[in-house]
Amino acid sequence: MRRLVVVSNRVEVAGKKQAGAGGLAVSIQSALEAHGGLWFGWSGEHAAKTSGRVKTHSVENVTYATLDLSTKDYDQYYLGYANRAIWPAFHYRLDRMKFHREDYEGYQRVNARFAEKLVPMLQDDDLIWIHDFHLIPLASELRRRSVKQPIGFFLHIPFPVPEILTALPGHQELVKELCAYDVVGFQTEIDLHAFHSYIEREVQGQVLSNGIVKANGHSFFAGAFPVGIYVENVSALTKDSKNSATAKKMAESLHERPMIIGVDRLDYSKGIMARFHAFEHLLEASPELQEKCLTLIQIAPLSRSKVKEYRELRESISTAAGRINGRFSEYNWVPIRYINHGFKRRTVLGFFRASQVGLVTPLRDGMNLVAKEYVAAQDPENPGVLVLSKFAGAAHELDGHSLTVNPYNTEEIADAMKQALAMPLDERKTRWSGMMKTLRRNDITAWREKFIGALQEAPYSAY
Ligand code: F6P
Repeated sequence: MRRLVVVSNRVEVAGKKQAGAGGLAVSIQSALEAHGGLWFGWSGEHAAKTSGRVKTHSVENVTYATLDLSTKDYDQYYLGYANRAIWPAFHYRLDRMKFHREDYEGYQRVNARFAEKLVPMLQDDDLIWIHDFHLIPLASELRRRSVKQPIGFFLHIPFPVPEILTALPGHQELVKELCAYDVVGFQTEIDLHAFHSYIEREVQGQVLSNGIVKANGHSFFAGAFPVGIYVENVSALTKDSKNSATAKKMAESLHERPMIIGVDRLDYSKGIMARFHAFEHLLEASPELQEKCLTLIQIAPLSRSKVKEYRELRESISTAAGRINGRFSEYNWVPIRYINHGFKRRTVLGFFRASQVGLVTPLRDGMNLVAKEYVAAQDPENPGVLVLSKFAGAAHELDGHSLTVNPYNTEEIADAMKQALAMPLDERKTRWSGMMKTLRRNDITAWREKFIGALQEAPYSAY
């Protein structure tokens, strides 16, 4: 078996959990554990001056290699072009996009540094798999340094339609850099279609019916590879949540009252504000749910707090939670439990199982593995209902079984919550089994094997 070399912005070293690493870390960890190999990226640390040394650490069949960033690199590459320009633009939030030339230069500079540090660690037979929007230029930088091994790229976030993408300064270079890969993977057919449109309209490239794209003098494969979850692992951890004192205390604290749960990094793409407004609307329109002391638990660990937009979001969401709680709370009931820190995975899965509704309403999301894990954590004999945004990648697989909503329409979300809370057991079971079939078919193994399979077929230059 060829060695797998994974590169991502953050590296989650086994046993040293970084806060907020999210679905990407879980997916990569599981791909690497199954295959063995090297995981290379940023350590999560930054300082005015760094040694530039790559630190390595091996756990079983995986070697973790990390480097620190200088504060300038962190500001320009991570906070700057990646999170203030690409992130909002790719999530259709041009109103939040901020562009500075020096940020773009920092982004290119850090990608060049990653390439320079990675090259001496590569072996001839490696398969190189690069992840996410921070590292789009990396293949070009590696090729510039004579790397010949197959290089694939997987985008965990949405890929916007050309009308949006062309508003991002640097879009021409980004797409050119994407065309340097052998395999380019997206979460959904919608993202793939948006990429194809750009290729055909903006660079006069060709999209063949077998998935091959010819553009910028290179042929490569572009496809949709929806990220899945490790269903058995989620089920086992959920069973184990019975031993979690926190999950038990949380369930006791509800006194068998109904509960709705949301779990998201505190990010403007997640639609938390609209969700709170929908919950307020629901309580207002349904006094019987006030009598039943319906509770919304929103877990929202802080994220990217150095970016102004994220600090402002924190302010406005806290204010909204306080206002709604002030309006409806009683001496023995607080309707929204709003929590700004994360919990252990098995504890969150225990919370999922204790809830009647999983509320996953991002305004735009690449996939959203919370939606999938919510479903896999349910009790087959008494499953909860998933209310899911039509703009989450997961909706392309779960629609028809989830209650799918427009996350901008707060009344529609409120109606869906009400419908979910009143849904008969038979219907809940039918919807749940439908979703579980999909989760098992498109699980994490299928994702990994499909992508690595495509990468093993490279090069595609003969097409
Ligand atoms: O899924 C998108 C993503 O940006 C990942 O690349 C990252 O691991 C996660 O969200 C958390 O974001 P950050 O690394 O900026 O905290």
